[in-house]
Amino acid sequence: MSSESFELITLKSGHTSLRLISNQETFHPVIGPEAEARLLHVEQQRLVARSQGTSPFIVWDVGLGAAANAVATLEALSAGPATVELHSFDHTLAPLQFACDHSEHLAYIRPYRLMIQQLMRTGQTSIGRLRWFLHCADFRVSLSHRDLPPPHAILYDPYSAVSNPEMWTLEHFQKLRRALHDDRPCLLTNYTRSTAVRSTWLLAGFYVGIGVGIGEKNQTTIASNQLELLDQPLPISWLKQVAASQNSNPLREGGSAYGPMSAEDFEQLRQHPQFQPRSLCP
Ligand SMILES: C[S@@+](CC[C@H](N)C(=O)[O-])C[C@H]1O[C@@H](n2cnc3c(N)ncnc32)[C@H](O)[C@@H]1O
Repeated sequence: MSSESFELITLKSGHTSLRLISNQETFHPVIGPEAEARLLHVEQQRLVARSQGTSPFIVWDVGLGAAANAVATLEALSAGPATVELHSFDHTLAPLQFACDHSEHLAYIRPYRLMIQQLMRTGQTSIGRLRWFLHCADFRVSLSHRDLPPPHAILYDPYSAVSNPEMWTLEHFQKLRRALHDDRPCLLTNYTRSTAVRSTWLLAGFYVGIGVGIGEKNQTTIASNQLELLDQPLPISWLKQVAASQNSNPLREGGSAYGPMSAEDFEQLRQHPQFQPRSLCP
């Protein structure tokens, strides 16, 4: 893949973004890179508030792409008092190079071009109390590195499950869940509202909630290793939607694609701690 694999696109909202030509997937497709990164990830994750008093606060930016999520994180946290480590993961730098080459059309990247060039050259850079690290490899491989610090926030942004299935399997999310520390509260944000993805995350051991609406999409999805961190956990009544869905089956490595959920998976979902009655006593 090279930077020629991308093209600029004007969204209906009038904002400019980029698109991978081969799969026709547009980055931040509705309200544009800056607004979506801020709303979906920075604000919903409460990055500013949650980073206070946590040193260092660790952010995983999965699917660095053209760095809109990373830049929104820098803008929110780099001038603050917290020590922050931003770890960006991607197996190609082609979209980032394309964005830098077209920075006259992608305003968010312009002030950070020099920093980004240093990041691409040396694998790290810093601004204020924020250190930014680049892991240029398959995220599934990076995830196994022992010295990778467990995150407080995961901005999860690969391509869709249709064109990037390996980043959406149950086995992958089980591994991701195991990479979190139970005593380190973590939120994971993504644009999806798919029943299959929500089921997959629950089966992988996450708690799962309804995320903010973005543009015409009335909700997205947020997950956590701690139920208390979610404002709107999926209620038990959501299981009816799973039972009725023809498309709630979790994607499995080497398995066939979508369909209704098996009785076995459904029973496991029903047993998830999120759907058990909770005692009011401490
Ligand atoms: C939709 S783009 C990300 C947009 C980006 N977050 C931004 O703010 O501009 C998806 C990115 O995920 C990356 N990706 C897909 N599969 C990956 C994998 N297995 N490991 C690392 N990166 C991956 C792609 O190379 C691509 O850059």
